[in-house]
Amino acid sequence: PRPGWAVDADVVVIGSGVAGLTVALRCAAAGARVTVVTKARLDAGSTRWAQGGIAAALGEGDTPEQHLDDTLVAGAGLCSEEAVRTLVTEGPEAVRRLIATGACFDTDAGTGEILLTREGGHHRNRIAHAGGDATGAEISRALVEAVRAAGIETIEHALVLDLLKDAEGRAAGVSLHVMGEGQHDGVGAVRARSVVLATGGMGQVFSATTNPAVSTGDGVALALRAGAQVSDLEFVQFHPTVLWLGPDAEGQQPLVSEAVRGEGAHLVDADGHRFMVGAHELAELAPRDIVAKGIMRRMQEKGAEHMYLDARHFGAQKWEQRFPTILAACRSHGIDPVTQLVPVAPAAHYASGGVRTDLHGRTTVPGLYACGEVACTGVHGANRLASNSLLEGLVFAERIADHIGDHIGGRTDARLPGAPQPAPAAESAVQGTELRLVAPEARTAIQRAMTRGAGVLRSAESLTRTAAELARIRDGVDKAVVPGTEAWETTNLLLVSQVLVEAALRREETRGCHWREDHPDRDDEHSRRHLLLALRPDRT
Ligand code: SIN
Repeated sequence: PRPGWAVDADVVVIGSGVAGLTVALRCAAAGARVTVVTKARLDAGSTRWAQGGIAAALGEGDTPEQHLDDTLVAGAGLCSEEAVRTLVTEGPEAVRRLIATGACFDTDAGTGEILLTREGGHHRNRIAHAGGDATGAEISRALVEAVRAAGIETIEHALVLDLLKDAEGRAAGVSLHVMGEGQHDGVGAVRARSVVLATGGMGQVFSATTNPAVSTGDGVALALRAGAQVSDLEFVQFHPTVLWLGPDAEGQQPLVSEAVRGEGAHLVDADGHRFMVGAHELAELAPRDIVAKGIMRRMQEKGAEHMYLDARHFGAQKWEQRFPTILAACRSHGIDPVTQLVPVAPAAHYASGGVRTDLHGRTTVPGLYACGEVACTGVHGANRLASNSLLEGLVFAERIADHIGDHIGGRTDARLPGAPQPAPAAESAVQGTELRLVAPEARTAIQRAMTRGAGVLRSAESLTRTAAELARIRDGVDKAVVPGTEAWETTNLLLVSQVLVEAALRREETRGCHWREDHPDRDDEHSRRHLLLALRPDRT
């Protein structure tokens, strides 16, 4: 659609989680004209749902080197060590700057030190938290307040559609659809020479996810359509302990934070057996992919639909003080964790891959940056370490802002030395991704197909079947679909699903959170390190 209105900025940031708002604040502080565009309200994305916290080597005796080791182990051989080193060494200062921006973390009443807890894959207590289990909500509150106080222009209820490019193929802004509120309405554009994607994840490609409804892969879809490369899309992290609400539960599901296990909760089957003990040296606190697999295996062995978390020994006071959000969510579904076992099962949680970037957040399209869950900086490899996501959003947002700050005035060039270059064409072919608007009614069919065939357990057979189902949905598209937010979102869901399935098919091994039943082992000899995919340039 043709934009009916336009605003100008130096930097347009798409998304308003920790990554987007941090880029916006830092760019504005450096004197840039910044516009933040977000799909719902400023605080509606994934950040505010984060429970456990933010990982950083802040504790006595902890070091970035130890944080690096844990991150590399969780990433199952696919992390970029340079990217992880950047994350863990710049992380502690970035957290301190977040505190200076206004975020309040839980502290020891006596010493005033930040309280640190433990989560899966960490060998030390290094997770800072806020409000007990409401860390993301506090970070979001602080950043939204700071953005408002700084007078940064924001456009809410605006779905970004496509990247605008200049004659040289460089980013020149975005087109967007504003849903009837505020001063802008309908399809318009923000013109800017620096475009930062901070749109979060794509959990809504599956039927059950911890992600909010807005996480429909819009940033990855936009980047693909703009010709950018994506990497590691097959590595979808399934959080092991999501409150199980029945076999037909769909949409956003309540998370039961890893921090609950970090504070001593046990995973048990219906017989009360702690099946993770003996399965890994860290038992319930093994990296997330290992715990998710342990739960799935036990479910298969027992023919069960879920396992249980047992934290009755916490008692009412600890539950109320340390995990008020989770306690309230459980109770609202009729489960009292103080006296009852909590039924849990894995659900889609985090995209470890995304739009490929370098260490300045630059994508393969000049002027287009990506930050946070939408990006693949290389820090997560095949499986993100718990609570590294908020940290990644913070650290790389600051790096992007620094880079943009150095190049404001139209001199930014994504082809500076070190910027990622496009992979050879043969590497980047993705079949059958013609761009047609998909009817909103197809959303459930996409999600169910993805959950059946490309979820926790995958095989060539299940993935091929899923690819065929997605192709049928695409081929069945009625050309008369009415343009609108839901249709655009569904179009994005279908596109990212197709590329994700393609990546999962190509990775013929089991590694990190990619679990192939027909290739049960990790294959260091034959497997490709990273799958870099892009749309075929000859698409219609
Ligand atoms: C959790 O609190 O378990 C989620 C933390 C994360 O996804 O990193």
